Amino acid sequence: MRELRRRSLLSAIGGTAVAGGGFTAAGTGSAQAAPERPGRPDPKIKKLLERMTVEEKLGQLQQLPWAVATGPGGSETKDVEDAARAGRLGSVLNIFGAENSNALQRIAVEESRLGIPLLFGLDVIHGLWTTFPIPLAQAASFDPEVTRRDAEISAKESRSNGVHWTFSPMMDVTHEPRWGRVAEGCGEDPYLTTAFAVAKVEGYQGEKGAGLAGKDRVAACAKHFVAYGGAEGGRDYNTVDVSESRLRNLYLPPFKAASDAGVATVMASFNTISGVPAHADSHTLIDVLRKEWGFDGLVVSDWNGVDELIAHGFAEDGADAARLALNAGVDMEMASTDLAKHGKKLLSAGMIGERRLDEAVARILRLKFDLGLFENPYVDEGAAIDKPSARARKAARETAARSMVLLKNDGGALPLKKSTGSIAVVGPFGDSEDLLGTWTFPGATKKFPAGKVLDAVKRAAPDAKVTYAKGVDAEGRDTSGIPAAVAAAKGADVTVVVVGEPPAMSGEAAARSDIGLPGAQEKLIAAIAKTGKPFVVVLVNGRPLTVGDWLDAAPAVLEAWHPGLEAGNAIADVLFGEVAPGGKLPVSFPRTVGQIPVHYNRESTGRPYAADNKYTSKYLDLPPDPQFAFGHGLTYTTFELGGPKLSRDRVSAGALRKGDTVEVSVTLANTGDRTGDEVVQLYVHDIAASIAQPVRRLRGFRRVTLDAGKSTTVRFRLGAEDLGFWTNDQDGAFRVEAGAVDLYVGDSSEAKTKRRLTIT
Ligand code: BGC
Repeated sequence: MRELRRRSLLSAIGGTAVAGGGFTAAGTGSAQAAPERPGRPDPKIKKLLERMTVEEKLGQLQQLPWAVATGPGGSETKDVEDAARAGRLGSVLNIFGAENSNALQRIAVEESRLGIPLLFGLDVIHGLWTTFPIPLAQAASFDPEVTRRDAEISAKESRSNGVHWTFSPMMDVTHEPRWGRVAEGCGEDPYLTTAFAVAKVEGYQGEKGAGLAGKDRVAACAKHFVAYGGAEGGRDYNTVDVSESRLRNLYLPPFKAASDAGVATVMASFNTISGVPAHADSHTLIDVLRKEWGFDGLVVSDWNGVDELIAHGFAEDGADAARLALNAGVDMEMASTDLAKHGKKLLSAGMIGERRLDEAVARILRLKFDLGLFENPYVDEGAAIDKPSARARKAARETAARSMVLLKNDGGALPLKKSTGSIAVVGPFGDSEDLLGTWTFPGATKKFPAGKVLDAVKRAAPDAKVTYAKGVDAEGRDTSGIPAAVAAAKGADVTVVVVGEPPAMSGEAAARSDIGLPGAQEKLIAAIAKTGKPFVVVLVNGRPLTVGDWLDAAPAVLEAWHPGLEAGNAIADVLFGEVAPGGKLPVSFPRTVGQIPVHYNRESTGRPYAADNKYTSKYLDLPPDPQFAFGHGLTYTTFELGGPKLSRDRVSAGALRKGDTVEVSVTLANTGDRTGDEVVQLYVHDIAASIAQPVRRLRGFRRVTLDAGKSTTVRFRLGAEDLGFWTNDQDGAFRVEAGAVDLYVGDSSEAKTKRRLTIT
């Protein structure tokens, strides 16, 4: 939970606080074991470093929170100002607003001995003023361009308000729907997550090498490094025990791609990685990130992540924690202050090296130079963006509609006709502004809340009689409002039931053991179903939900996620068919919590499920598949996919390694009577490999819009990186092996049509 730290400062920004808010010698790191690789030589940085005292260097490594705490503890604003004045502060998080940031920057630049500007960071996760749908929803669009646009707009709004750095994108792949942070990422697949991670980094920073100094650019942060999504039981901050091959095949790919795309920073994660807390794990932070990938940007800790090495049972005290984190590759400490407090003593005792310290400082200074802060530390107060522009609103509306997934639509219950005589809107989210999702900027929550569904339905069907009854609250057992909702449904031609999770039920520190609709919402749906009148269900939630018996009774179910600022309009756009739904699930929806983990990219067993054989892998009381599979999603028209064609049936592993590719093509026809979207998906399965392979792996997707009666050919290219895999070798061995690979093409992860490719 994010908590309100300083009311006066928060009110200045116009808001109230919201909830939501190896194998190497890691752990024994010493000055001798420390990596001492100087950063890119830069005369400006070298000169500055020569002038800095040890205290000033350690100060650069410190990031303190300003107004809003996004974790336990926090700092007083006066402490922040004093530290800035003394030249003992490198960065501040959770500061916002041109005036506020200029005032604090002035202290650092004009009153500190060396005048080094501060770096201001903020969690701009899916928008600042313009709140886009949550990242999980965006992933459901299967269109990375929507996320690029979110990032571009967010960067502009943020930078103009003094924010230089966003702690986004989050790229933690997870198979845990109980984990609240599933809302912040792209779901269960590394390929999809990678595509979105790169688009978001480029949206914030511009194409690689474009430079960060522009007024519409912010530095991005690839987080959380790494394997945080593997938290056992989905409980936040929990243990992760992971093989090297799973680490490399599942969790690392988005980070590698972000690093290749030039992401400026990386944030360490709260979890342990096979016994070593990520903040002290030199295997991932140094061997992989720095040495294998050549990442030379800044690594920041997560909130108190350095000091939490003590609670992990890994460090003895604050000094030990500081030593371990710095030596394992953490450059900047967020919130806790162990490096600033103990660094000097550690240096003189030889427990940390001066070159390692200089390296970390150099990275921080380099980011400040790259952002242009030495030339222009201030932001133009007159040019601060203080509201969503019309263009931004339009983008938010399009993105939200594009992110929705039509889970079920029996008998063409949707779209609704605008000519419908009367419509009842019922449910706790039907007349609610609480649809922005987790990690929203407090100022935006207050000033630019989500548009309501009820209002948008009235606008979309101006001639209809539209009534509203809440029925039940989002939480709690009170069912006394259900009769009024039933009466509304009985009196209407069709009812739109809007149910879901309040945003505070997903995001950080928001794990749930029961992921059904909270409170008495299922009872409300059951009561509406009993009326026998037509109705549709709209879900607004931050994670996969288990749907109860009501699913059978509901003719249509639209998964709208937490859609953001333009929630109401976007939901109405899809309900009335202004926009054809075309999203697909980026996560499997389990049938029950007991079925978790259930994800499409599981490995096979020696006894794969067979209905007629008891001694196979299954639950006695559940079908083997999830309620809704990864990649599932319907639309208002019908599509037909032809059989996949390969440019050739055989290719040599050697040729693939040299860059050769195989083309897979498929024809797609809109066989219905209206324009619609389909996401063509390509999955691979290596049928016999030296490490058992997932039964399917997504290696291509394309969202296509086609008019009725039209057809097109969709082409994918498969290369070594699609057909090979990482082994358990800790030094990183990627293999493309000879053998047969099945290629599945279809409209979900349950695609049946396949072709075989032989690798020789
Ligand atoms: C979260 C990070 C976030 C940081 C700063 C932490 O609690 O894990 O994702 O960027 O707080 O707010």
